[in-house]
Amino acid sequence: MSAYPQVRLRRLRRTKSLRRMFDAALPGPEKFMWPTFVMEGKNGREPIEAMPGQSRLTVDVLPAEVERVVRMGVGSVLLFGLPEEKDKDQTGSAAYHEDGVVQQAARALRREFPDLVIFTDVCLCAYTRHGHCGPLQASGDVDNDRANAILAKVAVSHAAAGADGVAPSAMMDGQVQAIRAALDAARLTDTLLMSYSSKFASAMYGPFREAEKSAPQKGDRKGYQASYGDLRQALRESLLDEGEGADLLMVKPALFYLDILARLREQTQLPLAAYNVSGEYSMLIATADRGWGDLRGMVREATAAIARAGADIIISYWASRYDEIFGEP
Ligand code: PBG
Ligand code: ZN
Repeated sequence: MSAYPQVRLRRLRRTKSLRRMFDAALPGPEKFMWPTFVMEGKNGREPIEAMPGQSRLTVDVLPAEVERVVRMGVGSVLLFGLPEEKDKDQTGSAAYHEDGVVQQAARALRREFPDLVIFTDVCLCAYTRHGHCGPLQASGDVDNDRANAILAKVAVSHAAAGADGVAPSAMMDGQVQAIRAALDAARLTDTLLMSYSSKFASAMYGPFREAEKSAPQKGDRKGYQASYGDLRQALRESLLDEGEGADLLMVKPALFYLDILARLREQTQLPLAAYNVSGEYSMLIATADRGWGDLRGMVREATAAIARAGADIIISYWASRYDEIFGEP
């Protein structure tokens, strides 16, 4: 009785009603975190060419857009700031200004949506002239320890502005420890720390760098972001961040790194986020636009894969299009 013709697996998936019973549900909107770009200015809404459906918004128009997303049930936002070009410097100091765009956005959203979970990206690449994630040494290398001190200030300023959580993405050694210590010293002991812990030097961040105007002027990020050739080191990155006091870990990108996500799932009890990055968003749109695939079908299948690999939450631009993609047709 253990083989065909007695055994016929098709019985279990023959009809739509049966499949609905046995298939795992796609993640609900509450599992999604929407990455959102906030820029200086008033009444501004700039569509991001490389990310159709996503825009840079000024702080005054942000709440209306977040309201639309919250109405669909999306649980959380992840804020990225775009300073004015003139405010960029060698160290990224505008990132911790009390009146920076992210700080303003966090305050505005906290006021209008008391229950919204607000996370902020903590990095310097959008705030430095050279576009690296920390200040540079004479050699051109990023100065790890000076970056940590600045990142800690940024995190404290975001938390003080009302963020529930801060998410350092610079991939500096010791950044989680430095930020946790600074938050504790500022008595911000309830602030969540979501580490971009296994973040790879990926070719899939192109559309995001256009959105954020944050591409490095010279060189690349391979000296600090994890190498996709070294699985063990990538896992160590996450496990070390757990030890340094992270509340959540992350694998980024998501789709090309599902093996890492699945392994990490077995090595930690912390909640895991998967960042379904800009290139993963835009490639499916580009494919659909050429008539080579059905957008809803592709996104749903990709999202199911991320959930299956072990993500507890999914950071995804699709969050703002939740109903279109995940709603009943
Ligand atoms: C900045 C940062 C990047 C992303 C999130 N935070 C870009 C990078 O590291 O170059 C990428 C997100 C995406 O592609 O959607 N440190
Ligand atoms: Zn960065």
